[in-house]
Amino acid sequence: MIYRQRRLRKNPIVREMVAETHLSKDMFIYPYFIVPGNQIKHALPSLPGIHHFSIDKLIEDVAIGLKLGVNKIMLFGVGEEKSADAHTAYDRHGLVPKAIRALREAFGEDLYIVTDVCVCSYTTHGHCGILEHDYVQNDATIDVLTKMSLAHAEAGADMLAPSDMMDGRISAIRKALDENNQVNVAIMSHATKFASSYYGPFREAADCAPSKGDRKAYQMDFRNPNEALREAFLDEQEGADVLMIKPALAYLDVISRIKDETTLPLACYNVSGEFAMVKAAAQNGWIDEQKIVMETMYAFARAGARIITTYHIRDMVEQQWI
Ligand code: PBG
Ligand code: ZN
Repeated sequence: MIYRQRRLRKNPIVREMVAETHLSKDMFIYPYFIVPGNQIKHALPSLPGIHHFSIDKLIEDVAIGLKLGVNKIMLFGVGEEKSADAHTAYDRHGLVPKAIRALREAFGEDLYIVTDVCVCSYTTHGHCGILEHDYVQNDATIDVLTKMSLAHAEAGADMLAPSDMMDGRISAIRKALDENNQVNVAIMSHATKFASSYYGPFREAADCAPSKGDRKAYQMDFRNPNEALREAFLDEQEGADVLMIKPALAYLDVISRIKDETTLPLACYNVSGEFAMVKAAAQNGWIDEQKIVMETMYAFARAGARIITTYHIRDMVEQQWI
């Protein structure tokens, strides 16, 4: 036998030496759901360990995470007044801008603040845009997303993560940011976001389930890997700084193919349904949570994701899995 693959698997030292994929705390973003009010830390049953936080309690929790190296967070606003035109989404004194200012005051530049840019938690119907004749209007929605982006940027967000899937929104947001002296606010586009059933627990947490219909007329069809490449390519052309693929676990092929075609940093979003499945099985004693979570994180990195947005990161650092 010329080749014996097992030689380099003989013991942990040699296995570490030849390991091809590495993870570090730098790669992770932790999502937060913020609600109006004070002294609120309300557990979300379908996302064990994840909560609704009022801004004061958010600050306390972020401080704990920061000490452990969780220095990048993604904010979702929940519970603001809903309307047809989603005007609370771009209120400069609204919930998310207020949270950004409070976080910046508390943590300065030690914390990197990413915000979700989408209106589904702010519309009465729960769709990710302005609805007319039961159809989400692309260009009218872009107008609202642009205003929302500016409200977040002016409050001090470091990075915006548009998750709506309207066409042309990246260039519109980039232009608005540049015209308003927000040239260093980065855009992490949900470039390739599939219409997925893995978002179930999130929709409850963010109170954003469409009251009627689904999101298939704007989010992608999961049968289409070529179209996924086009979405990524377009957002790159439009000026995205980072491209995100979402969900993650069932879309490793998509991450890998986009990785081959772009030099931009790639992110994936390990979404709520993926998290909930692992938690449910772990709580039943059916799987080893630590091992499953870490195998999954390595899979994202191996596929080509440099940035991983995941609800698991706090467990990972608190229990020193990483
Ligand atoms: C809505 C949005 C969703 C998620 C992030 N932003 C759900 C959806 O598109 O219906 C899902 C995140 C998760 O499941 O963790 N713009
Ligand atoms: Zn949305």
